[in-house]
Amino acid sequence: MTAPQASRRHGEGLITVPGDKSIAHRALILAALARGTSTIRNVPAGLDVRSTQNALASLGVELRRTADGARGDTVVVAGSVGALRTPAGAIDCENSGTTIRLLAGVLATRAIDVMLDGDESLRARPMRRIATPLETFGARFDLSAGGTAPLRVRGNAAARGADVEITVASAQVKSAVLLAALGAHGATRVHGLLRTRDHTERLFAAFGVACERDGEALVVTGPQTPRAADVDVPGDISSAAFLLGAAAAVPGAAVTVGGVGLNPTRTGFLDVLRRLGAQVDVACDDASAAEPCGRVHVRGARLRAIDIAPGEVPGVIDELPLIGVLAAFADGTTTVRGAAELRVKESDRIETFARAARAVGMAVDTFDDGFAVHGPARFHAGDVTTHGDHRIAMAFAVAGHAAGVDVRLDDPACVAVSFPGFAGVLERVA
Ligand code: S3P
Repeated sequence: MTAPQASRRHGEGLITVPGDKSIAHRALILAALARGTSTIRNVPAGLDVRSTQNALASLGVELRRTADGARGDTVVVAGSVGALRTPAGAIDCENSGTTIRLLAGVLATRAIDVMLDGDESLRARPMRRIATPLETFGARFDLSAGGTAPLRVRGNAAARGADVEITVASAQVKSAVLLAALGAHGATRVHGLLRTRDHTERLFAAFGVACERDGEALVVTGPQTPRAADVDVPGDISSAAFLLGAAAAVPGAAVTVGGVGLNPTRTGFLDVLRRLGAQVDVACDDASAAEPCGRVHVRGARLRAIDIAPGEVPGVIDELPLIGVLAAFADGTTTVRGAAELRVKESDRIETFARAARAVGMAVDTFDDGFAVHGPARFHAGDVTTHGDHRIAMAFAVAGHAAGVDVRLDDPACVAVSFPGFAGVLERVA
C-alpha cells in the first residue's frame, strides 16, 4: 500500500492525496467492460476502490495491480468486451455504496444473476433508488425488507433502451442508469436530477462511448463497448478538503495540495472556504484533460458563518461534516439545509456529526434535512463515536488538530476507506 506523500517547499507543506475514489471506481468498471487492455494510474489504495476491483475480478475480469512508487497503484485491466461471468457466490461490496450501485447498473443489462451484499453500514443504505430506474430495462431486483442489501440482481441481456427519469440527486443513481444503457439495445434517454458529479459522462468520452446531450437530457445508444483507455486519476479533492480545511480554520496557517482534481462539479468546497473567509488560490495544471487537475493553496483566517443552500448540497455532499466542523471556528451561526441525503450515507451523518460535535464542545442544532452550528465553539477534549464513518473520523481529527485539543476517535482505522495514512499527513499541515 503506498502512503500519500508530503514534502516541504517554501516553508509550507506541498501535499498530495490519494487518487479520486469516484473516478477510479468508474475507470475500473469501464476498463472491465472495454475491448482491449487499459492502464489506470494513481488508483487509490483505499478500501472502497478495492471493493470495486475485487467485485470485477469475481465477475471474471483480469486486473493486475502494482505499486507505482510514490503515487497510487497502477491497475492494468484486460477488458472483457462486456462478457462478464456469474460468480459462484455473492459479491461483497463491503463499505462501498458506489461499488454496489454502479455494479447494479452494469449487471442490469447483462446475463448475470447474482447477490450483491456489503457490511453492516452498506446493508442499512437505500437501494430502491437504483432498483426502480433499473427495472425499466426489464432487470429484476429482490431487495431485503426495508429496500436494502443483500439484493439479488437478475440482469436482462435483451434489454431495450428506455426513457429514465432520475428522481434522486445522486451521481450513483445517474451513473447506474448510464452504465445499464451501455448494454441495452437502442437509445436510453436519461433526464431529471442530473446536476451531480459528472465523472461517468467524462470517462465515457475517454473510453470512446458516445453520450449525446438532448437539452438537459443524456442519450446513450446501445449496445456500446468502451474502447480501452489509459487514465491518470487525479488526487481526490474530497480527501484534500480535510487538509485544506485544517489550514483554513487557523489564521496564518497555510497548505498547498498538488495534483488534485478540479472538476467543477466537485469544487464547491473551495467556494465554501472562500465564503467562510479563507484565502483560496487555484492553479490548474491541465485544463484540457478529461478531468482537470492542479494545485490548491489555502491560507487560514478568522472565519465567519455562512448558509449552505439546498441547491449547493450535491456539490459539497461529502464535505458537509467537515464544513460543520469549520463552522465551529467561525463567528455566528452556520446553517446547512436541503441535505437529508446525509442521513443515508456511511452513517446518519446528521446524527453522527451532531453527537460528535457536542462531545468536543460545539453547539449544534439538527433538522430533518441539515444542521446549524453556533460558532465560535469552546472546544475541549472529547471522545468521538464515528460509527465507522471515514468522513466523520477525518472531520473530527481536523477539529482536534485545528483547535489544539485531544479528540479521541473510537475507530481511527476507518479512514482507510478513502485515505490510508491520513493522520500522518494531517500532522504536516502547519
Ligand atoms: C459518489 C456520489 C455521492 C458521494 C459518494 C460518491 C459517486 O453519493 O456521496 O461518496 O462516486 O458517484 P450519491 O450519489 O449517493 O450522492
